[in-house]
Amino acid sequence: MSDAVLTIRTDAPLGHISPRLYGHFAEHLGRCCYDGLWVGPGRSDIEQQNGFRSDVLRALRALPVPLLRWPGGCYADHYHWRDGIGPADQRPIRLGMSCGLQVEDDNSLGTHEFLWFCRAIGAEPYLAGNVGSGSPQELCDWVEYCNTPLGTTLGRLRVANGAPEPFGVRLWGVGNENWGCGGNYDAQSYALEYRRYATMLRHVDAQIELVACGYDDRWNAIFMETLANHLELMDHLSIHHYWTHGGPELSFNEEQYYALLAEAQETERFIQRTAEIIQAASRAAQRPRRIGVALDEWGVWHPEARDWGPGDVPRRTPPTYEQANTLRDALAAAIALEGFHRQCQVLTLANLAQIVNVLQAVVMTDGPRMWLTPTYHAFRLHAPHMGATALQVAVEHSLSLPDGSPAVSATASRSAERLTITLINRHYRHGASVRLHCPVGGEATGQLLSADDPRATNTPEQPEAVAPRALEVHADGAQGWRVELPPHSLATLQIHGAAAR
Ligand code: AHR
Repeated sequence: MSDAVLTIRTDAPLGHISPRLYGHFAEHLGRCCYDGLWVGPGRSDIEQQNGFRSDVLRALRALPVPLLRWPGGCYADHYHWRDGIGPADQRPIRLGMSCGLQVEDDNSLGTHEFLWFCRAIGAEPYLAGNVGSGSPQELCDWVEYCNTPLGTTLGRLRVANGAPEPFGVRLWGVGNENWGCGGNYDAQSYALEYRRYATMLRHVDAQIELVACGYDDRWNAIFMETLANHLELMDHLSIHHYWTHGGPELSFNEEQYYALLAEAQETERFIQRTAEIIQAASRAAQRPRRIGVALDEWGVWHPEARDWGPGDVPRRTPPTYEQANTLRDALAAAIALEGFHRQCQVLTLANLAQIVNVLQAVVMTDGPRMWLTPTYHAFRLHAPHMGATALQVAVEHSLSLPDGSPAVSATASRSAERLTITLINRHYRHGASVRLHCPVGGEATGQLLSADDPRATNTPEQPEAVAPRALEVHADGAQGWRVELPPHSLATLQIHGAAAR
């Protein structure tokens, strides 16, 4: 057991941790939306509410899920929203396309169903519009259908379909990955297309927030420069970051364990670089405007679940985009969330990919069975940070990882009720005895997520193999608190009362 010392700087606030940083993503891809969320009202072997699985609904409500992006992904640029409204038996069966898959899509999960589900779990909806095979008019119509309080034909149609009040959807994406699956645009031509879409969309509803599609640094700089005279048309710039260099999903070695964690750590730098590009463009245009970074797809994408990229392992063919989710993946998610808190002034939303069954899912299903992944628990341990004020944390002393970075890291936040500290011990082999310099007094509770092996995962047979358990938090004199962390572990401490103030 090594020693670590961290100071929680209660005097150094970093900003507000928007619940939107804890968003998720549901795409019509594989078994995410169909089967994972939606089974349809006719299915009798699975308990459901309005066609959605009750077990999944309960698990997501408890997480919680403050923001949910839908319907894609690459699927969004083929999606025509009119196919998914009105009586279910009259909806067309379309070719559902994303990421090389083609399925019969009966459109039974459409706008009303999705927005009902968001309300049921307490999530804000974020709808991704179709640029690749759509038109500005089609997207304007979707906004009008969802949001107009007026008795226009589209407004009346929404009422006739069961929604007397406008849905008030604020967040709208103008396409998805338009540098690739969303039309293979170059940055300049997408910027011109975006300008046209955004102008028209703002006329329909001036309150909506628009998310433009970004990519890498070069694309983002050209896009921002092209849009320089119309930055008022933008609220967020979207980037995606998938981690792909961690080797196999289950049988990874120590080096690959660290490779994945290092990639997760890199996510923060990408957010920072994107924010710097946005700020430079807005300075150059002499139009100060708060445009946020929207990391609206992120997480680990293991080689078994893709047919491209690095990873010398057999791929599942055809890809289902389903993958194992281990304690290592949960630690990687926690590393990303730690960076999100540090970047909370510039990062305005983030969506883990994806919510059920696909990629770094928080929930898995198999017929009537449902279980929670280690990543679910990592998110759950972070829930008290949502809406709180992020605080600076200084690592005074810690064992180092092979790349020289500290093994123990933490994020902290303060709200009226409590001080919350989430610690990660990234070391593969060594535990850490951690002293936390921070206010004492009040009542401290702790929860730990760990397992003997970072390859540990949950399965339908062993759904609780990786699950939080109570962690003892010891008062450490007048200095602060002390906890013992096993290797490859994650813990959240909550200090209620005096210390929180
Ligand atoms: O999340 C899977 C896919 O990854 C999405 O459809 C696409 O946006 C990204 O390439």
